[in-house]
Amino acid sequence: MTKFYELSTDERLAQLRHEGAIDDDDLLVLTDEPALPTAVAANMVENQIGNFPVPLGLADHFLIDGEALQVPMAVEEPSVIAAASNAAHRIARAGGFRTSVHRDGITAQVVFTGVSSDFEVLRTFVHDNEAEIRKVAHESHPSLQGHGGGLRNISVARSDEGFSEIDLLIDPGDAMGANVVNTIAEAVARYCAERLDGLDLLMAILSNNTENQRAQAEARIDFDNLPTRDMEGEQVARRIVAAARFAQISPLRSATHNKGVMNGINAVVLATGNDTRNINAAAYADFNEQHRTWTKWTIDEERRQLVGRIDIPLPLGSVGGAMSTLPMAKLSLKLLNNPDASRLMAIVASVGLASNLAAVRALVTRGIQEGHMNLQFKSLAMSAGAGPEELAQVVTGLRADPANANLETARRLLGWLRRGSQPC
Ligand code: MEV
Repeated sequence: MTKFYELSTDERLAQLRHEGAIDDDDLLVLTDEPALPTAVAANMVENQIGNFPVPLGLADHFLIDGEALQVPMAVEEPSVIAAASNAAHRIARAGGFRTSVHRDGITAQVVFTGVSSDFEVLRTFVHDNEAEIRKVAHESHPSLQGHGGGLRNISVARSDEGFSEIDLLIDPGDAMGANVVNTIAEAVARYCAERLDGLDLLMAILSNNTENQRAQAEARIDFDNLPTRDMEGEQVARRIVAAARFAQISPLRSATHNKGVMNGINAVVLATGNDTRNINAAAYADFNEQHRTWTKWTIDEERRQLVGRIDIPLPLGSVGGAMSTLPMAKLSLKLLNNPDASRLMAIVASVGLASNLAAVRALVTRGIQEGHMNLQFKSLAMSAGAGPEELAQVVTGLRADPANANLETARRLLGWLRRGSQPC
């Protein structure tokens, strides 16, 4: 049977239509209709002058807690979807990803200045008025409780420099949470500031350090599913473990290792209309001197398997915001069987782990460039202006002399091809 990646775009769409994964309206969004109609885009940002499309593809072979999925990814880097699919395939052969998710809430900070001497006043005020503060929070966003969310906890803290804060732990339900959390924080801040003479309210805002919204995924790969042309699977597995360990101790390497994880994560986050900046801020806030990567790779000697784990803050939502406005985001969520926020977190964490595996396996075997080459050649040929019918010949020409495969060569090859003066 022809593999998904071997089909043309039209054939892929026909297959998805045939399988019932998309309907005729979805087909329009993906083809004729502009993916983001001007009427919608113009109301999303100030001074809108156009849209900025990036390719949307489906990463294949994901088996996550027993559910087989093709995962939508929006990304401009040529190799990211292929790499994630390749790793997911190896993982699926040993049973797929196992995930767990914690969604315990997002913290908002209501910050006061110059109150070190009055800290006890603030603490006593919050203690005495907790029921009222909870009421204010609830009334500022009454529908949240109906969606399973709400204010979970209130605490008070102070810093050495004289700042004091009320921290509100808020469960945003299935929303990403920025709007609900900030609305509640500002309402509570107003209520407190009006009643606390002498305390200067500095700000009220959610924290993107969301250690309570995190996802874990585990993947196992049999040694037999890891070999390359010139390396045994067991050796590959042990080299992956060493590479992951090196990332733990080297700040230079950990940045790159983590970029490989983010290749997958950001692409799904973008495709599903979530806030990529929020996810990046939250994920990187997890690190300190002792903890530099979200993934760990070990060996299960008994089962002769490589074992990978990811544990990462991922404050994703599955409703509201751009997820409800962007047609492409709605379609991506539909392709994932309309997951709730927890399920989406599990999927995104799995894609991050797969991307990491693909990158590190390539690095510790034949290097990253070999796998990238074909896609890079295609991208060079397109940058040189090759049309669809010219692409294959320019790529063949570039592949014949990889050391000189650059934009200038691609242009020269295209020129020859068009003039018919020299075969590519
Ligand atoms: C390239 O986009 C990502 C990698 O550099 C990640 C890594 O080095 O692990 C290949």
